[in-house]
Amino acid sequence: MTGKIHLSEKEDREAGIGSRPRKSSRARYYLVFVAILALQLYWGYGCSQHFVDQKYALETQVSKPQLFAQYLGALEENYAGKWLKKYAERTQLPGTIDNIEMVNWTKAKFEEYGLEAEIDAYTSYMSYPIYQSLKLLQGKNESVVYDAKLIEDEVEDDPNSFKSVPAFLGYAASGDFTGSYVYCNYGTKEDFETLDKLGVETKDKIAVIRYGAIFRGLKIKFAQEHGFKAALLFTDPADDGEVTEENGYKAYPEGIARNPSAIQRGSAQFLSVFPGDPTTPGYAIKPGEDKSRSDPKITTPKIPALPISFREVTPILEKLSGHGPQVATWPKGLIKGFDYTSVGPNPEYKLNLVNEQDFNVTDVYNVYGKIEGVNKDEVIIIGNHHDSWTPAAGDPHSGSAVMLELARALGGLVQSGWKPQRTILLASWDGEEYGLIGSTEFGEYYAKQLSKKAVAYFNMDVASIGNILHLGSSPLLYSLLRETASLLPYPDSNITLYDHLKEISKDHISALGSGSDYTVFLDHLGIPSVDLGFTSNKTAPVYQYHTVYDSYHWMKTLGDPGFVYHNLMAKYAGLLVLNLSESKLYKFKTTDYAEQISNLFSKIEIPKDWLQKKLDEDPEVSSLEELVAQVYENIASLLKSAATFDEDTVVLQEKYDNWDDLSFVEKIKLKWAIFKANTKLKYFERALLNHDGLKKRPWFKHIIYVSGRYTGYAGQQLPGLVEPIEDDDFAGFVNGLTFFNNVLKKLATSI
Ligand SMILES: *[C@@H]1O[C@H](CO)[C@@H](O)[C@H](O)[C@H]1NC(C)=O
Ligand SMILES: *[C@@H]1O[C@H](CO)[C@@H](O)[C@H](O)[C@H]1NC(C)=O
Ligand SMILES: *[C@@H]1O[C@H](CO)[C@@H](O)[C@H](O)[C@H]1NC(C)=O
Ligand SMILES: *[C@@H]1O[C@H](CO)[C@@H](O)[C@H](O)[C@H]1NC(C)=O
Ligand SMILES: *[C@@H]1O[C@H](CO)[C@@H](O)[C@H](O)[C@H]1NC(C)=O
Ligand SMILES: *[C@@H]1O[C@H](CO)[C@@H](O)[C@H](O)[C@H]1NC(C)=O
Repeated sequence: MTGKIHLSEKEDREAGIGSRPRKSSRARYYLVFVAILALQLYWGYGCSQHFVDQKYALETQVSKPQLFAQYLGALEENYAGKWLKKYAERTQLPGTIDNIEMVNWTKAKFEEYGLEAEIDAYTSYMSYPIYQSLKLLQGKNESVVYDAKLIEDEVEDDPNSFKSVPAFLGYAASGDFTGSYVYCNYGTKEDFETLDKLGVETKDKIAVIRYGAIFRGLKIKFAQEHGFKAALLFTDPADDGEVTEENGYKAYPEGIARNPSAIQRGSAQFLSVFPGDPTTPGYAIKPGEDKSRSDPKITTPKIPALPISFREVTPILEKLSGHGPQVATWPKGLIKGFDYTSVGPNPEYKLNLVNEQDFNVTDVYNVYGKIEGVNKDEVIIIGNHHDSWTPAAGDPHSGSAVMLELARALGGLVQSGWKPQRTILLASWDGEEYGLIGSTEFGEYYAKQLSKKAVAYFNMDVASIGNILHLGSSPLLYSLLRETASLLPYPDSNITLYDHLKEISKDHISALGSGSDYTVFLDHLGIPSVDLGFTSNKTAPVYQYHTVYDSYHWMKTLGDPGFVYHNLMAKYAGLLVLNLSESKLYKFKTTDYAEQISNLFSKIEIPKDWLQKKLDEDPEVSSLEELVAQVYENIASLLKSAATFDEDTVVLQEKYDNWDDLSFVEKIKLKWAIFKANTKLKYFERALLNHDGLKKRPWFKHIIYVSGRYTGYAGQQLPGLVEPIEDDDFAGFVNGLTFFNNVLKKLATSI
């Protein structure tokens, strides 16, 4: 089923500087070299001449500028709105008919545009809502004083609001619990520690937690660890910033503020432990395969939990004012009648929370559209997901719409006879919302081939809900992102997309954490990754994430009228992919990586009393201080060798661009040098993996960028150093630092 699209069937040795002995790779270079010479002798000069001239034999007739222009030309027409309307009609929970119909449709569209399309299925643990209810009970006889509707208001302007989507959280346990309730602020690790310090009884209670700050599943995890028996997550428009009804803005659909009945659904998975199918950590199961599953409760809650709107939580939280200990430092919000400092409980009131779900192992379906390149062993992947909680426009279908535009425009190039230098794989993932299922299972199943062949992964999730470019990326791709942005005009202005990036974020590109489908590629496999999206600014219409108001109507009227930023994203993403596929030398800059590593390390605050401690294990360094000094030396030498290396690659590309000026011998030498440089670039990021993974969460293997263990979405940089410091674990820190030091040394000498 997969042979066609997948990267290879044959057993591939795991690649990467980190895992491949250097000697054997050198030996391989020499072998190739000798083979070339042998070929030359065997077939004579003419044939080798043909070999070195394959630049022209295999590349297309169109020049690079022509190709880029043709790509952009295809996007002068903009069908993003049309695709979006189609995708955003129905909820697409994994395994449901509505999802599978769109999977089939996407595959058919990819084929229509001339891509090789395929559906790739995995089996995954999943949950489906059956029944949810929440009641406020008063007094000893527990009479019901309030029964929350748990559904958004139907509003005439927006047809989506009539689609009545259950208010539930993926993977939240089934259960029916009645108990008094406690306010837990954002439900961070610190917030629960605050409750502990105050001596608040958390056992057998219901945690009422505000959305924001960290990934929702971790709020539930911490609540469960503190003995809570259920959790209720509410939205507070205070977290929307400037645009609130309080500040005079009208609520959607009359205005741009959040509708007070909006409910944020989402996954309750413990994302920072490991993503993907909760029952298959680190591996994947395809339909028909007989492999065992493990206990899902390591990454999913044992307690029931529900999401609730701002309006519906109001009568519940206002009962807490004046009850229980006070935390003056917790931020205020917009619920009238609630002081946001009273933790509760109020002995007069209880909640009854019921969550009933079906837990099934279901098939999830990724859809791929492939354009095979001249070099099949070099694959550029661009992906977004297609499953959704509601008939959702922004998340994910702004991405789905842009993907189809990419397919259409790249397909146009294919139809005019173009073959990319490197294989381009468009991936539409399933099950992202539950826990990055489709992408993670793919990454785990094809780990070996991907480690060897993947060049980079570009992710779009919420591709466009506004006009502010947001970039997260591996540093290797910083310069490609910046320089390519400088070629595109920014709408309604005289500036470029790059000028805009400089204006809004001082040229800042974020570190990647987790929360979207790049996670397996970067954090687990060490594949350079990018996350792309146009987001909204402080005064823009509030994006009502995971609610029924993330609708086509919202997008068309407020989020991206004219689908201008969808179109710009298709242009930008496509240019990035084309640029990476068509340049002989990978457009990666190791200097940017070295600089980031240097900056990140300089911010590590090592406890002073650790520095003089002896390191028994390592006879070569007497104290931690000495090891730290070595790290600084190795960083300095990495910075130096990276700078030289990057300059050399530019020279190689220039020589390649002037191929005809070269003599036969120069051509052979250049091919050889390019092969060596590209191998180093391709596996640079792989060298930043520690195959043992992080302590207690071994799935995460990247030593620079992973998901924060207490935050989920937000990244943790240098986790192997920062986490032991947080845990007061000297031995763990020394381990992490020794590993880091060895990686630096190896990289500095190998590039
Ligand atoms: C999707 O396509 C497959 C293969 O053509 C077909 O068997 C299946 O019935 C289709 N499913 C839906 C829901 O359209
Ligand atoms: C419960 O008690 C309250 C007074 O505390 C009373 O008003 C109410 O009628 C009682 N409800 C039931 C169902 O007995
Ligand atoms: C999940 O399993 C239940 C039976 O346990 C079944 O009734 C339901 O249809 C299944 N749902 C899906 C989406 O497969
Ligand atoms: C390709 O990327 C390089 C930077 O890596 C940039 O200088 C160039 O302008 C880009 N070209 C296109 C057409 O995207
Ligand atoms: C762009 O520049 C032209 C000429 O300099 C000017 O007339 C126009 O107002 C500018 N447009 C914007 C949107 O700034
Ligand atoms: C913020 O977004 C609003 C609405 O899209 C737009 O009118 C405004 O110009 C934006 N502000 C900035 C600084 O981009």
